[in-house]
Amino acid sequence: QQQQPYQPSPQELAVLAEVVIEQIALATPSAEELERKTKLRERLRKLCTNVSPTAELEAFGSLVSGFATVGSDLDLVLVDKGGSTNRPFFEVPLLLEQELKDNGLEAQLLAKTRVPILKIKQPATEEYPKEVAADIGFANPLAIRNTDMLSMYSKCDPRVIDMVRFIKRWAKRRKINNPYKGTLSSYGYVLMVLHYLINIVEPPVLPNLQLYPIPAETPKDEITTEEGHNVWYYKDVAEIQRRVAEGTMTTNTMDLPLLLLGFFEFYAYRFGWVKDIISIRTKGGLISKVDKGWTVVAVRVGKCEAEYKDRYLFAIEDPFETNHNVSRTCNIYGVRKIRDEFKRANRIMRMREGVGALRYKLFEEA
Ligand code: CTP
Ligand code: MG
Repeated sequence: QQQQPYQPSPQELAVLAEVVIEQIALATPSAEELERKTKLRERLRKLCTNVSPTAELEAFGSLVSGFATVGSDLDLVLVDKGGSTNRPFFEVPLLLEQELKDNGLEAQLLAKTRVPILKIKQPATEEYPKEVAADIGFANPLAIRNTDMLSMYSKCDPRVIDMVRFIKRWAKRRKINNPYKGTLSSYGYVLMVLHYLINIVEPPVLPNLQLYPIPAETPKDEITTEEGHNVWYYKDVAEIQRRVAEGTMTTNTMDLPLLLLGFFEFYAYRFGWVKDIISIRTKGGLISKVDKGWTVVAVRVGKCEAEYKDRYLFAIEDPFETNHNVSRTCNIYGVRKIRDEFKRANRIMRMREGVGALRYKLFEEA
C-alpha cells in the first residue's frame, strides 16, 4: 500500500542533524586508535612469518573499506603464497595460536565457525588503556574483494561512510550486531545500507557498481573466479572521484537525517523480511526466497546452535558468493529483535523530542 511520505519540520530536522553529527563523531576512530591497529598488524605480520615464511598476512574489513568505527576489530587473512618448502598449511592455525600466546597476546582458535578463525586480543596497557582485537582467517579470498567493492561504494558518495558509522554505532548500542549471539554482522548492516542507497531511496544515492558494463580489455580474473563466482564491479577510482567532484554521481541531495529516516522506515515497515532476499548485485536489489530456494527448513529454537546452520529467517545474499546468506547467523530471536529495533528507532526519530531525549533514547544501551 502507498505510504504517506513523512514530512519532518525544519525544527525536527535540526534536532536530528545535531544528534547525527554528534553520534558519527563518537563512532569515528581517532588517529591514535588507527595507528595502534596498524602497529598491531605489523607485529602480527612478523609473528606469522615465524610460523610460516611464505604466508602473507593481508587486511580486509572495515579498516580497509573505510567503514571502521571506534573499537572495530582488525580483520586479517593469512594467505599461503608459496610452498613446498613450507610445513603443511593446515598446521599453521594451531602453531600460530601458540606463537601468539608465547608473545603475550591472547589467542583462541575457533573451529566451529564456517572457516577457522583465530581470535586475538592485545591486552590494554597503561599507555593505551583499551584492548585491541584482531581476527585472522585462513582462507577467504573473496573477503578481500568484497572489502574493495565496499570501499569503492564509500568513494561514490561522502554520505555512505557517515551513514554506515551511524548505523553501526546504533546497532552496537542496541545489541543487535553480534553474529556469535544470533544477530547480524557489521558486514550485513553495510549491505542493508547499500541496498537502501542503491535501490530504495529516490533518486538513488549510489549506482549499482556490479551492473556496469564490463570493458573489453578486462582481465578474466576480474570477471569470474576459478570457483565460478562472478566478481566484476566497476572500480575506476579516478573516474568515480572525477564524477563526485563534478557532482554528476547522483542527483540525490538529501541530508543524512532524511536518509536515515527513510532507512529506518523502510526496514521497519516496507522490507519483506519473510519473503525477500536483499541482493545488491541484482537490478532492483531483491529476489524472492522461494525463487532462490532459500526457504526455512527447520525453525527449531533451543539448545544446539550447530543444528541449524542454513537459516534463511533473514536473508542477505553475499554480492559475490551468492550461495552464502550473510544473515544466516540470525536466529529467530535475533531477527525479531532486529525488526523490533528498526520499529523502535523509527518511532523515536519521529517523536519530536529534543536533542537530549532523542540521543538518550535512540542510543540507550540495551
Ligand atoms: N565478511 C564476509 N562474509 C560475512 C561476514 C564478513 O565476507 N558473512 C567479510 C567482509 O569482507 C567484511 C569483513 O569480513 O568486510 C569484516 O566483517 P565484519 O567484521 O562484519 O565487518 P566490519 O566492516 O569489519 O565491521 P567492524 O568494524 O564491526 O569490525
Ligand atoms: Mg571487522
